[in-house]
Amino acid sequence: MELFDVYPLLDLEPIKGRGAYVYTENGTKYLDFYGGHGVISVGHSHPHYIEAIETQLQKLGFYSNSVANPLQQELADKLGTLSDYGNYQLFLSNSGAEANENALKAASFHNGRSKVVTFKKSFHGRTSAAIGITDNEKYSAPINERSKTTFLELNDTETLRQELADYETCAVVIEGIQGIGGIHIPEVDYFKKIRELCSQTGTLLIIDEIQSGYGRSGRFFAHQHAGIEADIVTVAKGMGNGFPVAGTIIHPDIEAFHGELGSTFGGNHLACAAATSVLDILENEELTQNAATTGQQLKDELSTLSAIEEIRGLGLMIGIEFDFPINELRSQLIKNHHILTGVSSNPNVLRLLPPLSIGLDEINQFIDALQTVLKNSNFA
Ligand SMILES: Cc1ncc(COP(=O)(O)O)c(C=O)c1O
Repeated sequence: MELFDVYPLLDLEPIKGRGAYVYTENGTKYLDFYGGHGVISVGHSHPHYIEAIETQLQKLGFYSNSVANPLQQELADKLGTLSDYGNYQLFLSNSGAEANENALKAASFHNGRSKVVTFKKSFHGRTSAAIGITDNEKYSAPINERSKTTFLELNDTETLRQELADYETCAVVIEGIQGIGGIHIPEVDYFKKIRELCSQTGTLLIIDEIQSGYGRSGRFFAHQHAGIEADIVTVAKGMGNGFPVAGTIIHPDIEAFHGELGSTFGGNHLACAAATSVLDILENEELTQNAATTGQQLKDELSTLSAIEEIRGLGLMIGIEFDFPINELRSQLIKNHHILTGVSSNPNVLRLLPPLSIGLDEINQFIDALQTVLKNSNFA
């Protein structure tokens, strides 16, 4: 059987990971400034993470949601404490798209509405409701309903006010920091305005922290830099450090009913063990604070390089915009310097999503390599 060929592949096959590095069969070491697509939060193969999963596997790997699983409550308690959303409710699933799908369903069940407002350059996943609120026609098949979604310019208050004025919008969905769109941060005042307008009009505010959450921005959630609270927050990627687990964090006023949401695998024993160990490591190693400080150091170093048009981002979620397409630059970083980086829907933006545990050595290695590539090549 052949694989359904949907992924353009890098010329590299990692077989082992440790901390901020992955290794190929012949032992070549690559610095992972891509974090396996923003997934690796606490570093590859962290000993505590391995031990937690192995120990749980020896006891019970899976049982269904038809029985109580105390590991879910343990995870919810820890997540509530570290995220400052302790009075909210947690629904567990397996991927970012599912977390958003469930957020939209919970919102729509709650206020009975179906229109959604989201933003240009947004990405929220590939299942039906999630693709409906993603600003990329290429990913949307005829079967995916998009007609009830409005895509607004980010940071434009007036269009948002007009859009919500009929009191018929179910939810505004916004990324804590737009990732795939090329790293765009909603302005603090805009976040505050969205919060205010949503509260006034009975619209629920869903903040997608799938990429920007779990400490990556230097706060547990990126929207917390703006001092606001969402009605629903979605998480995935860094939550399991590679183990497929996702969450929809739901306001206490939104009441659940039996059968409203569900998932066979969501919140299974292994997933909970993985996700709780990630939170232990984030807390014990102060990785959110580390993301804030190392992210700032990285941006300071980048700002000394003349070839860069703009540096955007918070913590260790950074976009570097050049005035040329970055494909060749990215290839050279991999081939000549053994450093992995990410792309975005803007061909001129290099996206950095390293593990939150990186330090000065990794920053220096990246900056030296980038300097060398820029000096030796003429990309313009
Ligand atoms: C902001 C955001 N939301 C949702 C998703 C979808 O997550 P998944 O691929 O786990 O379904 C992604 C994935 O890149 C994302 O970056």
